[in-house]
Amino acid sequence: MPAVMIVGAQWGDEGKGKATDLLGESVDYVVKPNGGNNAGHTVVIHGEKFELKLLPAGILSPGVTPVIGNGVVVDLEALSEEIEVLKARGVDTARLRISANAHVVAPYHRTLDKVTERFLGKRAIGTTGRGIGPAYMDKVGRLGIRIQDLFDESILRQKVEGALRQKNALLVKLYNRREVEIDEITEQLLGYAEMLRPMVVDTTTLLNDALDRGEVVLMEGGQATFLDVDHGTYPFVTSSNPTAGGSCTGSGIGPTRVDRVIGIVKAYTTRVGAGPFPTELEDEWGEFLQRVGGEVGVNTGRPRRCGWYDALMIRYAARVNGFTDLVLTKLDVLTGIEEVPICVAYDVDGTIHHEMPMTQTEFHHAKPVYEMMPGWSEDISTCRTVEELPAAARAYVERLEELAGCRISAIGVGPDRADTIAVHDLLPDPAQQRPAGA
Ligand code: IMP
Repeated sequence: MPAVMIVGAQWGDEGKGKATDLLGESVDYVVKPNGGNNAGHTVVIHGEKFELKLLPAGILSPGVTPVIGNGVVVDLEALSEEIEVLKARGVDTARLRISANAHVVAPYHRTLDKVTERFLGKRAIGTTGRGIGPAYMDKVGRLGIRIQDLFDESILRQKVEGALRQKNALLVKLYNRREVEIDEITEQLLGYAEMLRPMVVDTTTLLNDALDRGEVVLMEGGQATFLDVDHGTYPFVTSSNPTAGGSCTGSGIGPTRVDRVIGIVKAYTTRVGAGPFPTELEDEWGEFLQRVGGEVGVNTGRPRRCGWYDALMIRYAARVNGFTDLVLTKLDVLTGIEEVPICVAYDVDGTIHHEMPMTQTEFHHAKPVYEMMPGWSEDISTCRTVEELPAAARAYVERLEELAGCRISAIGVGPDRADTIAVHDLLPDPAQQRPAGA
């Protein structure tokens, strides 16, 4: 022990990469338990900007072993590209470990993602087009290809054949696309076997052994609570479980071993892709948050939809994840706003809700009820303690904490790793956790 989780509390892009990296120096393993290259982290270290999609942010911290867990879907082309880019910038990627049970995103998954979205028309999800949904569909449908299959050519061929029998029928008959060749896909996937061989291990044993030795394992969930296929705004969600329980399943670490579940929450709300968003701003304030917050998707370059902070969402996220701490990011973006609104309730066709409504219909009809907080105009980017924050900014943070029912343990006041106010330790006291003499 200890095992620590990082979970996005909203619709993603809360700054999880920064929070992970903040802890990165103190942890031994950083695991990505779910998702694939639909994620996008921007990490700024000493003014240098790194964009990560598939690789856990821990890859940037020397001394950390980054792990791609069994719950991830791996696009091998994207993986090899990302590794090459980092190597070219002098980052050591040799420590990366990948679960033999992780699934592969094959080229036909990407094709199916795009044609399905087109087929859905007005009902499209606004996916990242990276083949994530179709790869998870094959996993659950027991037609998936796993990383370990790449080391057994005859098994791989059989599995590709099994998958393509169904995919080709869909592609040709329903979507009017060309048939995909079994040999072509098999050869393409086999081409990655040598690159993967030194990285592929039984990651569940690796991580549990590390916990037994008293090392620190950080699970860095991809996407976020409201994109969770069970707990999010279904069907406008991703196809995995980015909530805390999914991190256990996706890494093979049991819930009784987890010490901290840290929710990452932005001081306002953003969303990419389609779906309901009660506090969305389609006016100059939305543009303000988008511009000042630099709210453009790392992965697809799409501008993010922006809105005010929604306290109902965060209370719900705290509940379904069992947050022990929150990290509040991008507080500096709100500087200069005279009065800062916080959504404290929804008006659903005349009925006031203080908690997330039960049904999708109600959430679609939800109109935000705001409480107004006084704003601040001072530059807060150099503040390093809560006491240094202007009184109004401090009151805003305290109100968010009260509404979430969870303590805020760190506050982001600027883009760099150093632009952070540390309030409480995010890791349990190592003296109490490490075995004597370790
Ligand atoms: P998919 O994960 O590509 O299938 O996309 C499903 C939904 O999740 C879409 O609305 C995407 O924009 C959203 N999504 C997926 N990954 C991320 C992420 O890392 N940040 C924010 N939104 C994401």
